[in-house]
Amino acid sequence: MDDFSGKVAVVTGSSGIGFGAALYFAKAGATVHLCGNDTAHNTKAEAAAKDLNLSVSLVDVSDAEDVERWINSIGDQNGIDILVNAAAVQTYGTTETTDIAHWTRVIGINLTSCFLTSHFAYPYMKAKGGGAILHVSSVQGHANQNGVLAYATSKGGIHAMVRAQAVDAAKDGIRVNSISPGSVRTPLLEFAAQTVVGEGNPIEDVIAEFGAAHPIGRVGTVAETSAIIAFLCGDRAGFCTGGDYLIDGGLTAGLGV
Ligand SMILES: NC(=O)c1ccc[n+]([C@@H]2O[C@H](COP(=O)([O-])OP(=O)(O)OC[C@H]3O[C@@H](n4cnc5c(N)ncnc54)[C@H](O)[C@@H]3O)[C@@H](O)[C@H]2O)c1
Repeated sequence: MDDFSGKVAVVTGSSGIGFGAALYFAKAGATVHLCGNDTAHNTKAEAAAKDLNLSVSLVDVSDAEDVERWINSIGDQNGIDILVNAAAVQTYGTTETTDIAHWTRVIGINLTSCFLTSHFAYPYMKAKGGGAILHVSSVQGHANQNGVLAYATSKGGIHAMVRAQAVDAAKDGIRVNSISPGSVRTPLLEFAAQTVVGEGNPIEDVIAEFGAAHPIGRVGTVAETSAIIAFLCGDRAGFCTGGDYLIDGGLTAGLGV
């Protein structure tokens, strides 16, 4: 396990990939501040991390004032070394069926949030002489299924944001990267599976089908996403910035024909 002793890590998304990364950092010695807007997720995360240096806050990552207040309350104590953005919603809609409210909500939660947290955390990282920012994107930012207009746009936007942030931030010792997962077993994936089978029906067969679409033959795990997030935010990745890292079981390597 990487050593994050003495580091302050800020993570958004209190279930699934975000929670997994937060737990990893805390077990590896960091002081971790996690947030989410779902009180059930927050309470569960808090209970699972009760013996660790991990706090959980109720924050809407699409709300600039909420994010500023939360980040400042952390940075003013011990600064910030690491920022991981994993909060997001997955929704469905085409150009025809996506209304303005849907579009604005998804771009706000999935994309603008990455700017907001970076914007407010940046001065604290700079004051420490550097840091690492990691945004969780998706394979859907590279190529996508039908009917995910707003989601895919938000994830593709993250790839561009990473490049733009990385070239500007290198002079301040701040590295910026993203990961693009394929299917990973989390509440979000279970929601997607439930959408396929309908409310109340079992999802295991659909999860297995999702897995079969990946050349490796299964969906990924939160342990696997936590490992790559920790690597990219740690000293061993000191020469990595401006990149997107696929963790997709080979999904985007194939043509599916
Ligand atoms: N699980 C997958 O298969 C998969 C694949 C590709 C990309 N991703 C990405 O991974 C990231 C984490 O997703 P996950 O799979 O862990 O799903 P998840 O649903 O478990 O986690 C997302 C978290 O974000 C929180 N959230 C949603 N809106 C918020 C808001 N406005 N403010 C604060 N928190 C909010 C949710 O409450 C939830 O806890 C997301 O960016 C997602 O797009 C997931």
